[in-house]
Amino acid sequence: MIDETIPGLTSVAELHYLERLVKPVPPSSNLCEVGAFLGRTAYVLAATRPDCRVFVVDPFDADMPNWLRPENKIDGDRNRYRGQSQFDTFKTFLHDCNNIAVCFEYSPPKRSFPAMDLIFIDAAHNYDSIKADLDYWRWCAVDPTALCGHDYCEEFNDVRMAVNEFAASIKKSVYVEPGTTIWKICDAA
Ligand SMILES: C[S@@+](CC[C@H](N)C(=O)[O-])C[C@H]1O[C@@H](n2cnc3c(N)ncnc32)[C@H](O)[C@@H]1O
Repeated sequence: MIDETIPGLTSVAELHYLERLVKPVPPSSNLCEVGAFLGRTAYVLAATRPDCRVFVVDPFDADMPNWLRPENKIDGDRNRYRGQSQFDTFKTFLHDCNNIAVCFEYSPPKRSFPAMDLIFIDAAHNYDSIKADLDYWRWCAVDPTALCGHDYCEEFNDVRMAVNEFAASIKKSVYVEPGTTIWKICDAA
Protein backbone atom coordinates (compact mmCIF):
# COMPACT_ATOMS: atom_id res chain seq x y z
CA MET A 1 0.00 0.00 0.00
CA ILE A 2 1.40 3.39 -0.87
CA ASP A 3 0.47 6.98 -0.06
CA GLU A 4 2.06 9.05 -2.77
CA THR A 5 0.92 12.30 -1.13
CA ILE A 6 3.39 11.93 1.77
CA PRO A 7 6.27 14.28 0.92
CA GLY A 8 9.61 12.58 0.51
CA LEU A 9 12.54 11.73 -1.70
CA THR A 10 11.37 8.57 -3.41
CA SER A 11 9.52 8.37 -6.70
CA VAL A 12 6.17 6.65 -7.08
CA ALA A 13 7.89 3.87 -9.09
CA GLU A 14 10.21 3.35 -6.12
CA LEU A 15 7.29 3.16 -3.69
CA HIS A 16 5.68 0.49 -5.87
CA TYR A 17 8.92 -1.49 -6.03
CA LEU A 18 9.35 -1.30 -2.25
CA GLU A 19 5.79 -2.57 -1.90
CA ARG A 20 6.71 -5.51 -4.14
CA LEU A 21 9.81 -6.19 -2.04
CA VAL A 22 7.93 -6.25 1.25
CA LYS A 23 4.91 -8.31 0.17
CA PRO A 24 6.69 -11.70 0.24
CA VAL A 25 8.49 -11.39 3.60
CA PRO A 26 7.40 -14.08 6.09
CA PRO A 27 4.39 -13.33 8.32
CA SER A 28 5.07 -11.37 11.53
CA SER A 29 8.62 -10.47 10.49
CA ASN A 30 10.67 -7.58 11.77
CA LEU A 31 11.40 -4.92 9.15
CA CYS A 32 13.51 -1.82 9.38
CA GLU A 33 13.89 1.52 7.70
CA VAL A 34 17.07 3.47 8.37
CA GLY A 35 16.42 7.13 7.52
CA ALA A 36 12.69 7.85 7.31
CA PHE A 37 12.33 11.63 6.79
CA LEU A 38 8.51 12.12 6.87
CA GLY A 39 7.55 8.50 6.42
CA ARG A 40 6.96 8.23 2.67
CA THR A 41 8.74 4.86 2.48
CA ALA A 42 8.08 3.77 6.08
CA TYR A 43 4.38 4.00 5.24
CA VAL A 44 4.82 1.48 2.42
CA LEU A 45 6.44 -1.03 4.78
CA ALA A 46 4.02 -0.53 7.65
CA ALA A 47 0.77 -0.28 5.66
CA THR A 48 1.57 -3.11 3.25
CA ARG A 49 2.51 -5.45 6.09
CA PRO A 50 0.45 -4.60 9.19
CA ASP A 51 1.34 -8.04 10.58
CA CYS A 52 5.02 -7.07 10.76
CA ARG A 53 6.84 -4.82 13.20
CA VAL A 54 8.58 -1.93 11.45
CA PHE A 55 11.56 -0.39 13.24
CA VAL A 56 12.26 3.15 12.05
CA VAL A 57 15.73 4.44 12.90
CA ASP A 58 16.14 8.20 12.53
CA PRO A 59 17.18 10.95 14.97
CA PHE A 60 14.29 13.04 13.60
CA ASP A 61 16.36 16.19 13.91
CA ALA A 62 16.16 17.35 10.26
CA ASP A 63 16.02 21.08 9.64
CA MET A 64 12.60 21.02 7.96
CA PRO A 65 12.55 24.46 6.29
CA ASN A 66 15.92 23.65 4.76
CA TRP A 67 14.83 20.22 3.46
CA LEU A 68 11.62 21.68 2.06
CA ARG A 69 13.16 24.67 0.28
CA PRO A 70 11.23 25.16 -2.98
CA GLU A 71 14.33 24.40 -5.09
CA ASN A 72 14.75 20.95 -3.51
CA LYS A 73 13.10 18.13 -5.38
CA ILE A 74 10.51 16.58 -3.10
CA ASP A 75 7.98 14.06 -4.37
CA GLY A 76 4.47 13.96 -2.94
CA ASP A 77 2.35 16.83 -1.77
CA ARG A 78 4.60 19.24 0.12
CA ASN A 79 1.51 21.29 1.08
CA ARG A 80 0.71 18.55 3.58
CA TYR A 81 3.62 19.86 5.68
CA ARG A 82 2.14 22.26 8.26
CA GLY A 83 5.26 23.64 9.88
CA GLN A 84 5.59 21.04 12.63
CA SER A 85 8.78 19.26 13.62
CA GLN A 86 9.97 16.33 11.54
CA PHE A 87 8.72 13.80 14.08
CA ASP A 88 5.31 15.41 14.64
CA THR A 89 4.81 15.43 10.88
CA PHE A 90 5.90 11.78 10.61
CA LYS A 91 3.43 10.88 13.38
CA THR A 92 0.59 12.71 11.64
CA PHE A 93 1.24 11.00 8.30
CA LEU A 94 1.54 7.52 9.83
CA HIS A 95 -1.10 7.85 12.55
CA ASP A 96 -2.99 4.79 11.35
CA CYS A 97 0.09 2.51 11.37
CA ASN A 98 0.21 0.83 14.78
CA ASN A 99 3.07 -1.47 13.93
CA ILE A 100 5.87 1.11 13.93
CA ALA A 101 8.60 1.16 16.57
CA VAL A 102 10.37 4.51 16.40
CA CYS A 103 14.06 4.54 17.37
CA PHE A 104 15.32 8.08 17.84
CA GLU A 105 18.94 7.46 17.07
CA TYR A 106 21.68 7.76 14.54
CA SER A 107 22.66 4.73 12.55
CA PRO A 108 24.74 2.72 13.17
CA PRO A 109 23.04 2.37 16.55
CA LYS A 110 24.86 1.49 19.74
CA ARG A 111 22.53 -1.35 20.66
CA SER A 112 21.25 -4.54 19.16
CA PHE A 113 18.06 -5.20 17.22
CA PRO A 114 16.14 -8.40 16.54
CA ALA A 115 16.69 -10.26 13.28
CA MET A 116 15.12 -8.41 10.36
CA ASP A 117 13.66 -9.83 7.15
CA LEU A 118 14.00 -6.56 5.25
CA ILE A 119 16.19 -3.53 5.95
CA PHE A 120 15.82 -0.43 3.77
CA ILE A 121 18.75 1.96 4.12
CA ASP A 122 18.20 5.62 3.20
CA ALA A 123 20.00 7.65 5.88
CA ALA A 124 23.28 9.56 5.47
CA HIS A 125 24.63 9.18 1.93
CA ASN A 126 28.39 9.68 2.25
CA TYR A 127 30.69 6.71 1.73
CA ASP A 128 31.76 6.26 5.36
CA SER A 129 28.18 6.39 6.63
CA ILE A 130 26.85 3.90 4.08
CA LYS A 131 29.78 1.59 4.78
CA ALA A 132 29.17 1.85 8.54
CA ASP A 133 25.44 1.20 8.03
CA LEU A 134 26.12 -1.89 5.94
CA ASP A 135 28.71 -3.16 8.42
CA TYR A 136 26.16 -2.83 11.21
CA TRP A 137 22.88 -3.88 9.58
CA ARG A 138 24.30 -6.94 7.82
CA TRP A 139 24.39 -8.64 11.23
CA CYS A 140 20.70 -7.86 11.90
CA ALA A 141 19.59 -9.08 8.48
CA VAL A 142 18.37 -12.70 8.47
CA ASP A 143 20.40 -12.94 5.27
CA PRO A 144 22.40 -10.33 3.32
CA THR A 145 19.71 -10.46 0.63
CA ALA A 146 17.39 -8.77 3.17
CA LEU A 147 19.42 -5.58 2.69
CA CYS A 148 18.27 -2.92 0.27
CA GLY A 149 18.34 0.83 0.04
CA HIS A 150 17.88 3.99 -1.94
CA ASP A 151 19.90 6.28 -4.21
CA TYR A 152 22.12 3.88 -6.11
CA CYS A 153 22.80 6.41 -8.88
CA GLU A 154 25.33 8.80 -10.38
CA GLU A 155 24.28 11.63 -8.08
CA PHE A 156 25.12 9.50 -5.05
CA ASN A 157 28.23 7.74 -6.26
CA ASP A 158 29.30 7.07 -2.65
CA VAL A 159 26.23 4.89 -2.24
CA ARG A 160 27.11 2.93 -5.38
CA MET A 161 30.71 2.52 -4.31
CA ALA A 162 29.98 1.39 -0.75
CA VAL A 163 27.21 -0.99 -1.83
CA ASN A 164 29.31 -2.52 -4.64
CA GLU A 165 32.28 -3.03 -2.31
CA PHE A 166 30.08 -4.56 0.35
CA ALA A 167 28.45 -6.99 -2.09
CA ALA A 168 31.83 -8.01 -3.51
CA SER A 169 33.23 -8.56 -0.01
CA ILE A 170 30.53 -11.13 0.75
CA LYS A 171 30.49 -12.61 -2.78
CA LYS A 172 27.01 -11.34 -3.60
CA SER A 173 25.65 -9.13 -6.39
CA VAL A 174 23.78 -5.85 -6.46
CA TYR A 175 20.44 -5.67 -8.24
CA VAL A 176 18.98 -2.28 -9.13
CA GLU A 177 15.35 -2.28 -10.20
CA PRO A 178 15.06 -0.58 -13.61
CA GLY A 179 13.41 2.84 -13.44
CA THR A 180 14.38 3.22 -9.78
CA THR A 181 17.50 3.84 -7.72
CA ILE A 182 16.68 1.08 -5.25
CA TRP A 183 19.50 -1.41 -4.76
CA LYS A 184 19.16 -4.86 -3.29
CA ILE A 185 21.77 -7.41 -2.35
CA CYS A 186 21.19 -10.65 -4.23
CA ASP A 187 22.91 -13.97 -4.74
CA ALA A 188 25.72 -13.80 -7.28
CA ALA A 189 24.73 -15.19 -10.68
C1 LIG B 1 16.96 10.90 2.32
S1 LIG B 1 16.04 11.11 3.80
C2 LIG B 1 15.02 9.66 3.83
C3 LIG B 1 13.95 9.72 2.80
C4 LIG B 1 12.80 8.76 3.02
N1 LIG B 1 13.22 7.39 2.97
C5 LIG B 1 11.72 9.05 1.99
O1 LIG B 1 11.39 8.17 1.21
O2 LIG B 1 11.19 10.17 1.95
C6 LIG B 1 17.26 10.83 4.98
C7 LIG B 1 16.80 10.70 6.43
O3 LIG B 1 17.88 10.12 7.15
C8 LIG B 1 17.99 10.71 8.41
N2 LIG B 1 19.38 10.51 8.83
C9 LIG B 1 20.48 11.22 8.52
N3 LIG B 1 21.57 10.65 9.07
C10 LIG B 1 21.14 9.56 9.74
C11 LIG B 1 21.77 8.55 10.49
N4 LIG B 1 23.08 8.52 10.69
N5 LIG B 1 21.01 7.57 11.01
C12 LIG B 1 19.66 7.55 10.83
N6 LIG B 1 19.01 8.46 10.11
C13 LIG B 1 19.73 9.46 9.58
C14 LIG B 1 17.56 12.15 8.22
O4 LIG B 1 17.06 12.66 9.44
C15 LIG B 1 16.46 12.00 7.15
O5 LIG B 1 15.21 11.87 7.79
